[in-house]
Amino acid sequence: MGTETEWRRRTLGGSGTDVGALGFGCWAIGGEWSTPDGSPLGWGEVDDDESVAAVRRAVDLGVTFFDTADVYGSGHSERVLGRALAGRRDEVVVATKWGNLFDERTRTMDGADRSPEYARRALVASLRRLGTDRIDLYQLHLGDTPLAEAAELRDACEEFVAEGLIRSYGWSTDDPERAALFAAGEHCAAVQHACNVLEDAPGMLDLSEEQGLISVIRSPLAMGLLAGTRGRGPRADAGDIRSTPPAWLSWFEAGGMPSEHWVKRVEAVREVLTADGRTLAQGALGWLWARSGRTVPIPGFRTVAQAEENAAALTHGPLRHGQMEEIAGLLA
Ligand SMILES: NC(=O)c1ccc[n+]([C@@H]2O[C@H](COP(=O)([O-])OP(=O)(O)OC[C@H]3O[C@@H](n4cnc5c(N)ncnc54)[C@H](OP(=O)(O)O)[C@@H]3O)[C@@H](O)[C@H]2O)c1
Repeated sequence: MGTETEWRRRTLGGSGTDVGALGFGCWAIGGEWSTPDGSPLGWGEVDDDESVAAVRRAVDLGVTFFDTADVYGSGHSERVLGRALAGRRDEVVVATKWGNLFDERTRTMDGADRSPEYARRALVASLRRLGTDRIDLYQLHLGDTPLAEAAELRDACEEFVAEGLIRSYGWSTDDPERAALFAAGEHCAAVQHACNVLEDAPGMLDLSEEQGLISVIRSPLAMGLLAGTRGRGPRADAGDIRSTPPAWLSWFEAGGMPSEHWVKRVEAVREVLTADGRTLAQGALGWLWARSGRTVPIPGFRTVAQAEENAAALTHGPLRHGQMEEIAGLLA
């Protein structure tokens, strides 16, 4: 494995930019937003000053990659991230996403736009909110976009690269065929997909290996279940998406109670994940690094304490082969 820290190296192909093995996900720090009929899409109330402090602490601790989206908090997450990175922009790699339509004033999301013209407008708006002159990784947020439209968007991204507006691009999708279509573009560097101890994604990880992509891993902590904070109690916060989970969100039940099915599986592997003095969250991140040398998990956060705990996972590194085998056996 080379030097002790060599396992941490990840490069965004095409751009030559180094991202490191750990990023931070900025969905929660967008604060509250919703569908037009009021269903929450955020993670409840957040304290912007705490979010800013958490981002800065993460940078101090060596986290150099931040993933957001224009739609998180209807633009608020990008603004908070921009504020946190003021004066430190060159130390980090910034990824954002486009495709969803939203209203910054009402903080609602309503619909999507898959046209190249909209992609350009969204990009200009993201640059403004983030207070930067380029996006390092620009990602299509609409995971089910038909291939023909996606090919046009891939070509639009190549134009954005040529104009110096973005350095590389990728697609947030769980479909290897779609990811492969984007990967055919010269500056496509990554695919963002779900994967964690409880739900592996072998097809996507194989695709990244074949195509030389980075796998940016969303929901690496199963939206908090693998960080242990949810325990067995219901969510009190009505503005939290986990309190009123949409159909795709299986970790939590209506009212915000963690699903018994998943809680049992977390308990089955807790001891192995927390061996060697790791916390549960640190063990879950170590599992992803051991799973593939191309993963960049992006745990969500909203406090300085969470930022510190998750950044410290880097000092523990990947789980050992024997621990991975034990976990596979326990979950089989
Ligand atoms: N379609 C897409 O492209 C897409 C979809 C989903 C996510 N994402 C990206 O992936 C990122 C991460 O995924 P995620 O936010 O869904 O979930 P996650 O990373 O699996 O879980 C994050 C949540 O776990 C809790 N947590 C984190 N660290 C903790 C710690 N050390 N101790 C205790 N609790 C901790 C926090 O929630 P509490 O404090 O409330 O417990 C936090 O918001 C997002 O922020 C976003 O950037 C993208």
